[in-house]
Amino acid sequence: MSGGRRGSLVDNRTGQQEDTMKKQWWQNKTAYQIYPKSFYDSNGDGIGDLPGIIEKLDYLKYLGVDILWLSPIYQSPLADQGYDISDYYQIDPRFGTMEDMDRLIKEAKSRGMYILMDLVVNHCSDEHEWFKKAMADPEGEYGNFFYLADQKDGRPCNWRSYFGGSVWEPLPGTDKQYLHMFHKKQPDLNWENPRVRREIYKNINWWLEKGLAGFRIDAIINIKKALPMQDYPADRADGLCAPDVMLSHAEGIGEFLKEMRDETFRKYDAFTVGEVFNEKPGELEQFIGDDGYFSSMFDFNEHLIGQDPRGSYAAKAVTAEQYKEACFGAQEKIGDMGFYSTLIENHDEPRGVSHFLPKGQVCEAGKKMLAGLYFMLRGLPFIYQGQEIGMENVEFSSIDQVDDISTRAEYQTALDAGLSPEEALAAVGESSRDNARTPMQWDDTLHAGFTAGQPWLKENPNYVDINVKDQMGRPDSVLEFYRSLIRLRKDERYQDTVVYGSLQPYLREQKNLMAYFRKGETQTLLVIGNFQKDAQEVRLPGAVKHVLINNLESWKEEGSTVQMCGWQFVVLEME
Ligand code: GLC
Repeated sequence: MSGGRRGSLVDNRTGQQEDTMKKQWWQNKTAYQIYPKSFYDSNGDGIGDLPGIIEKLDYLKYLGVDILWLSPIYQSPLADQGYDISDYYQIDPRFGTMEDMDRLIKEAKSRGMYILMDLVVNHCSDEHEWFKKAMADPEGEYGNFFYLADQKDGRPCNWRSYFGGSVWEPLPGTDKQYLHMFHKKQPDLNWENPRVRREIYKNINWWLEKGLAGFRIDAIINIKKALPMQDYPADRADGLCAPDVMLSHAEGIGEFLKEMRDETFRKYDAFTVGEVFNEKPGELEQFIGDDGYFSSMFDFNEHLIGQDPRGSYAAKAVTAEQYKEACFGAQEKIGDMGFYSTLIENHDEPRGVSHFLPKGQVCEAGKKMLAGLYFMLRGLPFIYQGQEIGMENVEFSSIDQVDDISTRAEYQTALDAGLSPEEALAAVGESSRDNARTPMQWDDTLHAGFTAGQPWLKENPNYVDINVKDQMGRPDSVLEFYRSLIRLRKDERYQDTVVYGSLQPYLREQKNLMAYFRKGETQTLLVIGNFQKDAQEVRLPGAVKHVLINNLESWKEEGSTVQMCGWQFVVLEME
C-alpha cells in the first residue's frame, strides 16, 4: 500500500490546476460490504460464516471489487447482530475461527483484495468482561470504563436511546444505573477514561498487525458526550429528547479521534471510513481532509431525505429531485478537499432500489440508472451485498417476521402514535433494516442457495427471479452492468477522470433528470440519468466522442439533443 503522492486536480470553482488532495492507495478502488450472517453459509446451520466468504471470493473477484468490509464477526451475543461485542479478540464461533479469519485475510490478499473489519468502540456488550467487572464492583477500576450514576439521584439526563426509551438502565445487582446510547445490551464505553482508550488502541493495532487493511468505524460520533450531562427540551410525549440533540452540544471529539488516528491507523497507512452522521458545519475537513481523522466517511445526505423526527413511520418517499440535490449538495460541500464514500444502501437501510425508485416502478433499467448515478460521483463507491443483482425490499406479513431490534422499537413508536398494527407494520416495514439483511440470493434453489439448513432470517421469495446464477454472464443483467461500471473505474484511459475528476452539475433545473460532468485534465465525461419512466429530451453541450456506458440499447441523438428513454443512463465521453 503506497500513498502520499500529491495529486494535481482541476479546481471545481476556478477550473485551474491545483496542487490539492493527496492521492491515496484506496481511492481508485471499489468497496463491497459483506453482512456475514446473511452472505453464505458453508456448514448448514443457517448462519453465514467466514469459510462461506472464502468460498465466494472468486465471485467477488469476478465482480471486480477490491476492498471488502465485513460487518462484525467478533464474539457477541448478537443482540444487535454483532454490534454488541463481548470479546474484541475472538471470532464468534457461529462465524468461524481465528484460523478462518487469518485464511480469509491471506486468500483475499492473494487475489489483490483488502479486508476491513467493523470497529465498534462507542460501546461493547453487557456480556463483555469489563461490564461484568463493573457490575461486580461499580466503585472499582472497571466502573470507570462506563458511565455510571447513582439510582437514587434519578436519571442524570433525559436523552432517548437510538433504539427507544431512556439511555439509562439499572446496573443489575447494584444501586447504580448505566448509560447506553443504543440498546441496553450495548453499554457506552467511557472515552474520557485514558485506560479505556489505551485498551481500544491496543486492540486496533493487534488487528492491523494481522494484516487488515483498515476499518469501517461504527457510530463514532457518539464517543464524545456533552458533559456535564443535562436535560434538553423533550421532543415527544415520553419526555425524552433525540440523541442528536446531545451530540450537537458535545465539544472536543477531535482530541479523541486525532489520538486514535496517531496511535493506530496512521502507523499502518490503514484505510478508515467513518459512520458519521452529525459532524458540525465546517468540521468536514478535520474529519476527512488531508490530515483528517479518517480516510473517508460515508455520504449519508441522500439517506436523510424524508426522515421525520417523530419516527420512521412518518418518513416520506424520496423524489428524484431530492435525490439529485442531496448528491450535488454533498459534492459541493466536499469539493476536492476529501473523498466521500458513496452508497445507496447498507445493513442499516432498506434496499436502495426500493427506497430511491418510485414505488411500483422498480425495474432493471431503473436499478442500473441508480447504480450508475451514484457510482460515477466523485468518491469511493461501496456496494452492499446483493445490491449488485438488484435485490429489493421484502414484504413482512407480521412483526414476528422482523428480527431487528431497531425496527421493533420503531414499530412500538408507531403504535404509540396511534397507528393500527397493520399500518405500523406497513410503515416501518418500508425502512426496516431487515430488508437488507435477508439472505444473499445466489440461485433459484431452496433458500436462494444461501444455506442447506434453515436460514436465520427468511429469504425474500423473489430469489427465484433475482439471483446471482441467473445474472452472471447474462449481458443485460444488473450484475453485468455493475461490472461494466467497475471496469470503467479501473480502465487506465479513464481512471484519472472517473476517480479524481471534478464534478459539475449539468441541466440541474431539468426535472427528473440527473446529469453531471466529470472533468479530468484532458478529458470530459458526461453522466446522464433519466430519473423517470417516461422518455425526455436532453440538450447536449457538444459533440459526443464515445458512448462509454449505456443501460439500454438505444441511443437517439438528433443534432444537439438526445431522446432519453425512461430510466436510461449513459456515460459519454465528450469531444
Ligand atoms: C451503527 C451500525 C448499526 C448498529 C449501531 C450500533 O449504526 O451500523 O447496525 O446497530 O451502530 O452499534
